[in-house]
Amino acid sequence: MRLFLDTANIGEIEQGVRLGVISGVTTNPSLAAKEGIGDLGSYKNAILQIVEILPENSSISVEVTAQDSQEMINQSREIATWHPSVIVKLPSTIDGFHAMAVITQEGIPINQTLCFSVNQALLGAQLGVTYVSPFLGRLDDEGHQGMDLVADLVSTFRNYPIETQILAASIRHPLHCVQAAKVGAHIASVPFKVLMQMTHHPLTDAGNAIFNRDWDKVSPVKA
Ligand code: G3P
Repeated sequence: MRLFLDTANIGEIEQGVRLGVISGVTTNPSLAAKEGIGDLGSYKNAILQIVEILPENSSISVEVTAQDSQEMINQSREIATWHPSVIVKLPSTIDGFHAMAVITQEGIPINQTLCFSVNQALLGAQLGVTYVSPFLGRLDDEGHQGMDLVADLVSTFRNYPIETQILAASIRHPLHCVQAAKVGAHIASVPFKVLMQMTHHPLTDAGNAIFNRDWDKVSPVKA
C-alpha cells in the first residue's frame, strides 16, 4: 500500500517527504482553505511549490471547486495544465460523473472523490478514473463501518480487469492504515498527524532509552 499525505501544508509535506515513504499528496478545498488558499491562482502556486518537494513520479490530487459539470470540465482542463503530476479530483455527483465522462476521454487522470458506495465507485471505474477515494472516516462518523466499503471495493474490483486504484481517504487514526492495508487498498492518504503516529511505539522509545543507558554505562567517559 502506497502512502500519500492528505494536506496542503508545505511544512508537513517537507517533513513527511524526509521520511522517504510519501509518493503523493491529496488536497481539497477545505485543506487549501486551512492554509489561507481561497482562489485558483493561490491554489496553483501552492501546488507548484508542493510538486517541487515531492519525489519524482509522485502524484498530487487537486480538487475542482466548480459545482456544475461544464464549469468542472473547464476547471479540470485548467488544473491539468499546472503540472504533469496533477490528478484532478472530481466529486461523485451527477455533475461530477458528467465531467469525468468528458475529462477521462481527454486522457486527464481523475481522482474520484467523496465516494461513499460501491455503486458510485463502479460508475467511476466504468469511466476509467485513475483513483477512487472512499471516505471511510466520514462513514464511521455516520455510524457505518467505513472500512467495509474499502474492503467491498477491493473484492468487487477483483472480479474484473479494472485499473482504477482504491485510495483510502478520510483516514483518522493509525488503525485505519493497518486495516486499509489488510483489506488491500492500493493507497492510503493520511493526515500528517497519523503519519507521525505510524512511526511511534512506546516500546521502541523505552527499548531505545535502555540501549543508550546500558551503552553509556561502559563507554569511556566523554570529555
Ligand atoms: O482526502 C479526503 C480527506 O481530506 C477527508 O478527510 O477527515 O475531512 O473526512 P476528513
